[in-house]
Formats: sequence, C-alpha cells, structure tokens
Amino acid sequence: MLAIIGGTGLTQLENLKITHRQVLRTPYGEPSGPMTFGIINQHEVMFLARHGYGHTIPPHMVNYRANLWALRDQGATRVLAATSVGGIRADLVPGTVVVPDQLIDYTHGREFTFFDGKDRSVTHIDFTKPYSEPLRQQLLAAARSAGLKCVDGGVHAVTQGPRLETAAEVDRMERDGAHMVGMTGMPEASLARELGLQYATIAVVANHAAGRGSSLNSIPLDTIGAVLNPAMEQVRDILEMVVVSDAN
Ligand code: HPA
Repeated sequence: MLAIIGGTGLTQLENLKITHRQVLRTPYGEPSGPMTFGIINQHEVMFLARHGYGHTIPPHMVNYRANLWALRDQGATRVLAATSVGGIRADLVPGTVVVPDQLIDYTHGREFTFFDGKDRSVTHIDFTKPYSEPLRQQLLAAARSAGLKCVDGGVHAVTQGPRLETAAEVDRMERDGAHMVGMTGMPEASLARELGLQYATIAVVANHAAGRGSSLNSIPLDTIGAVLNPAMEQVRDILEMVVVSDAN
C-alpha cells in the first residue's frame, strides 16, 4: 500500500475518505500520532503526520524509527514524504515545489538505524541513490498532469534543527553541493531503505536559506506560513493525484 508522511503545512489530505484511525505501538515506541487509513477515489492510502496532528513534535524529537516501523507493519510498501526546506540554489525560490534526487545528512544524535547490532549481524544498506526513482517519477508525472510546476532533482541537505542555519553553514552546504536544506529528511529516508520500503520526498521551498535572497540578514519567519500554505496545497494535489493514478 501507498503511505504518505505529511510534514509542516500538511497534516491531512483534502479528499481522503477516512475509514479508520489507529493508535499503534512498535518495538521502538509510539509513532508521531495515530495512523489514518482512508480511500481517495477507491484507492487505499495511509497517512501519518510527522510532527503529530497538533504539530507539537520538533524535527529532532520525531520518532522516525517508530513511524517507519508502524507504516511497514500496517502494510505500506511505498512512502511519499512531504517536507519543507530553505532554498540554497538560485532557482529554488520560496514557493517552489521540488522532488530531490540526492541528500546529504548533517543530523546527529538521532536514533537512525534498525541495524544497531544488538540482535543481528552487521548489516549495511546501499544508499547510493537515497530516493526511489519510480516513486520520484510518479510524483513528477502527477505534477505534470495537474499542470503544476515541480523541479526535478536537487540535493537535499538535512540539518539537526530546531534552530535554523547560520549563513556560513549554508555557504558550506552549498560548497558541499547542497541545493536545499531541511530538518526531517534523515534518518527517515535511510530507515525506509533499511525496511525495504520505497521512499521519495516532495519538498516545498518555504524560504531562502540563511544569507540568501530575502533571508540575507535574517530568515523572515513570520512570512513562511504565507508561502508554505499555498505551495503545500499544490503538494497535496500532487500526492492525491499519485494515489488516484497508482496502479496498485
Ligand atoms: N533550514 C532548515 N530547514 C528548513 C528551512 C531552512 O531554511 N526552511 C524550512 N525548513
């Protein structure tokens, strides 16, 4: 089944006919909230709000392991994740929707693996391409058929948060090859891979990253909502389009 993880600005799906909600427990603790199960146009989907339904869980406190475990436990095989980012590359201006194809992990201190060696032998996953290409293509095709602009590809840097970056940190990320920066992309993507789930991200650029464009001197936090909300509507349309055009 297809699953959707909603981020900031996306705590529910518009056209989802909810069949039931379920509180779940996992060996790794509780997910961010109850899992919502429903149907869009006869297509089943499950939905989880990454930050909780009241948006109370900050990026570094999200129980990524419980979230991914619960999704798989409930029958998810593919996961679409919505997230918001700051734009580093010049064309990734606020309001842009982008489907990244690479990532760089700057997070630390998070519970980031199921393979901690406690009860199994050492296990490595291949992570050369962190996102599922078929799922990325489904997102891009859905955007095209909805007539919505969506940038194909980009390097998604993931920082620890919850503070935003310094301008020098963003400069360094740019030298590293990063095109956008967010706080929730990891370890979500690698945990999905560890569980054998296909996973792709769709991101909304909420602001220029620190030291860029309108964030030259400070990030205008008070205007982020006004940018994020209409763009997340587009993401919601794209995600719903993926669900209804999905073969399975
Ligand atoms: N940095 C990190 N995470 C973010 C940003 C940012 O500028 N904007 C939205 N999420």
